Amino acid sequence: MELKGKRFLVIGGAGFIGSHTVDELLKEDVKEVIVYDNFCRGNPQNLQQALQDPRCRIYDVGGDILQSDILQSAMKGIDGVFHFAALWLLQCYEYPRAAFNVNIAGTFNVLEACVQQNVKRLVFSSSASVYGDAICEPIDESHPFRNTTFYGATKIAGEQMCRAFYHRYGLPYVGLRYMNVYGPRQDYKGAYIAVIMKILDRLDQGLDPIVYGDGSQSYDFIYVQDCAKANLCAMKAQTTDEFYNVGTGIKTSIKELTQLLLQLTSSNASIQYKKAGLTFVKNRVGCPKKAQRELGFRYSVPLPEGLKKLIQWRRQDQKQTTTLPS
Ligand SMILES: NC(=O)c1ccc[n+]([C@@H]2O[C@H](COP(=O)([O-])OP(=O)(O)OC[C@H]3O[C@@H](n4cnc5c(N)ncnc54)[C@H](O)[C@@H]3O)[C@@H](O)[C@H]2O)c1
Repeated sequence: MELKGKRFLVIGGAGFIGSHTVDELLKEDVKEVIVYDNFCRGNPQNLQQALQDPRCRIYDVGGDILQSDILQSAMKGIDGVFHFAALWLLQCYEYPRAAFNVNIAGTFNVLEACVQQNVKRLVFSSSASVYGDAICEPIDESHPFRNTTFYGATKIAGEQMCRAFYHRYGLPYVGLRYMNVYGPRQDYKGAYIAVIMKILDRLDQGLDPIVYGDGSQSYDFIYVQDCAKANLCAMKAQTTDEFYNVGTGIKTSIKELTQLLLQLTSSNASIQYKKAGLTFVKNRVGCPKKAQRELGFRYSVPLPEGLKKLIQWRRQDQKQTTTLPS
C-alpha cells in the first residue's frame, strides 16, 4: 500500500519499536499518525519529537486493546494499522493469564476492529520466539515452531489469528518475526530489562559484567531504527498472508556482545562467568533473505554503531532523569 496521503493507527506506538515506527512514518508524506497505547510500558517521552508534527497525536479517549469499543472508534477512517501492543517474554512467564488476555484476546480485538472498520492493511509484530531453539542455521521462515514459552505461544496464536482473519474476511496483513531488537528508548528502568541493559547497569556501577553459562549462546541483534524501517517496508509491500524474519543474519555470542560493550564504554572490567540460570533460547540467528527479496528490507546499522548510539542515548536519558524536579 502506498503511504502517501494515508492515515495510520500505531497500536503500542508509545513503546520501543512502535515509537521509532511513528518517527519513520512521519518522514513520509502520510496524512495522519495516531498512537493507540495504554502506557503500561510505553512512555510519552518516546513521542516527544513526533508530537511536534501536527500530523501526529495520541488517541486520548483511551488506548487499551482490551477496550474493543474504543479500539473500534480509533480505527474509523484508518487505512493502515501497525500492531505492536503486547506483554513481553518475562511478563508472560510471570503472568500467563494476562499474556493470554493482552496478546491473544487483544490481538483478536485488533483484527476484528480492522475488519469492521475496513482497514486496508495490517502489520503484525510477531517474534523469533516462535522458533524456539534452532535446529538449523540460519533460521528461515519455514523452520518449525519449537517454542516452549507462553510469550512465544501467544505470538504463534497471533500469527494464526491473522491468517484466519485473512482467509475468512480478506484482511490483508504481513507478520514480522523480529530477532533481538536493541537501541535508544529500550527500557532500562523497568522490571523487565534485556541483556544489553543489564550489562550496562553493571558497568555503570563499576562492577564486572556477568555472563551466564560460557557466553557462547548466540543471537541476531538488530538496531531499532532498522526494525522500524522493516515495518514501513511491510506496510508498503504488495504481499499478504506471509511472515518475515527481521534481523541481520549475523550471529553474535553473548561473550562477543559483552566484549564489545566493554570496548565501547572504555571499561577495563572483566567478564565474570556464572552458572546459567533461566534461559529461554540458546541459539537464534535469522535468515534475512525472504524479507530482502519480498519486502525490499535490508538492515543498515552494524552492531558496534548501533550500540554506540544506544550508550549515548542511555547516558543522556540518565542525566535528564536525575535532573528532573521531584
Ligand atoms: N524488542 C524486541 O526485541 C522484540 C522482539 C520480538 C518481538 N517483539 C514484539 O514487538 C512488539 C513491540 O515490542 P517493543 O519492544 O516495542 O515493546 P514495548 O513494551 O516497548 O511496546 C509495547 C507497547 O504496547 C503497549 N501496550 C501493552 N499492552 C497494551 C494494551 N493492552 N493496550 C494498548 N497498548 C498496550 C505498551 O504500553 C507499550 O508501549 C511487541 O509485540 C513485541 O512482542 C519485540
